[in-house]
Amino acid sequence: MRPLPKKIVVASGNAHKIHEIKQIFKDVEIVSMADAGFSGEIEETGQTFRENAYIKAKAVCDFVKEPVLADDSGLCVEALGGAPGVFSARFSGGNSADNRAMLLKLMKDIPDRRAHFACAVCLIYPEGVALFGEGYTKGKILFEELGTSGFGYDSIFYSCDLKKSFGEATEEEKNSVSHRYRALEDLRSKL
Ligand code: IMP
Repeated sequence: MRPLPKKIVVASGNAHKIHEIKQIFKDVEIVSMADAGFSGEIEETGQTFRENAYIKAKAVCDFVKEPVLADDSGLCVEALGGAPGVFSARFSGGNSADNRAMLLKLMKDIPDRRAHFACAVCLIYPEGVALFGEGYTKGKILFEELGTSGFGYDSIFYSCDLKKSFGEATEEEKNSVSHRYRALEDLRSKL
């Protein structure tokens, strides 16, 4: 068993993710990789969320030599065989609004709207130990955007737990049921 480090560097350039991680791990000092001096590009060559989380955490940990947490996450749509999955950020080749528009278009005539967000987190200590957590949250792909909160696919994801879209949810509501919250709590249970 290891204690949760007092300070963790997060291997992400996504300000929304870092903000959510700060809200969920309130008892830890969360520092972005940029603030820790890491400015490199990390290629996400893994085939799973878990592999990509490890790749990102390892690359940054080798550089900063402090405990590093990485999150790899995405949206998996049942009717699309789990796509966009690990390609969620790169789905359309454009920005988040382009990704949402492309998914809504693809899903236009598909009645099966079932989907889930998935998240794998990896915490690596400089001496080489790696711990993982995984989390999921179920929902449905809406037919149009609802709400403006959150980021990425939030406004087209209707949460089965909250009975509203993540775009309509407050930060606290989303953080109480999200894939990221569940992955971080899974990780915490292993410490
Ligand atoms: P990553 O940086 O490769 O993990 O990319 C994750 C991508 O999945 C993000 O750019 C979003 O498009 C999507 N995603 C992951 N988590 C969320 C979330 O909580 N809300 C909305 N979209 C998300």
